[in-house]
Amino acid sequence: MHLLHLTDFHYGDPATAPLDPAAPALSKSLPIADRLERCQKSLAGISLDALILSGDFSMDGNPADARQLMQEIDLFFPDLPVAFVPGNHDHLAKPAKNASSAKKYVPSDKAFLLPDLSVICLDTSRPGNDRGVIDPAQCQWLKQQLTKPDGQPTILVTHFHLLPGQHSMPCAAYPDEFMEIVAQSSLIAVFTGHTHCHYQGFFCGKPYCTAPGFSFYGLPAADGTVFLEPCFGYNLYTIEKGYLANIKTETFYVSLDTL
Ligand SMILES: [Fe+2]
Repeated sequence: MHLLHLTDFHYGDPATAPLDPAAPALSKSLPIADRLERCQKSLAGISLDALILSGDFSMDGNPADARQLMQEIDLFFPDLPVAFVPGNHDHLAKPAKNASSAKKYVPSDKAFLLPDLSVICLDTSRPGNDRGVIDPAQCQWLKQQLTKPDGQPTILVTHFHLLPGQHSMPCAAYPDEFMEIVAQSSLIAVFTGHTHCHYQGFFCGKPYCTAPGFSFYGLPAADGTVFLEPCFGYNLYTIEKGYLANIKTETFYVSLDTL
């Protein structure tokens, strides 16, 4: 089974958001169709079974941009099951009119039952917050999902990364209970996005991968800043007999000029 993991598209017109620190990087990105075409060509001969999309579909939460992006993805990768979760850029940047409405946000947690694979997507995004969160109610929901006996390999997907120190950007905040649930689960892997920088390791004893950005890369610099590079990429996972058997990261360099 092959899973294509794409993340952090930030689709939209960067000219409409000049204050977005990523605007210069986004303005140098190739058109989305060109990026998807390069991705598709590099996967020629590989039979994909599903798409994992881990958020930041739009630049500033514009639903029309997100819809258009999904249509573009579907043109190049049609008829594939898709599991998706929103990121922090998938909420309108305009703050909520009052604090009480912001508190009413219900995370878009969802379990996708794909052929031969279950994908549990935990929504770590919160409107008006550029930090990731997993709250106790989500831990309970996750626990329930993990006890459902569907007999399939199961992966967990979040937008925000989960490992402290993985990147200069802070990881999601979560209670200790979350780590216990993951550690005691039969999850075969955990996949994330957000950092725009690929990573492989282990989270609570589970294989853990962050896919690179599909818009630009965000490389952690020694001084704690993030160095934006005009390249994009994807992760391709191979699952065999219920195990994450292979992880491939592909990077496409738009140019060698730094931003
Ligand atoms: Fe993000």
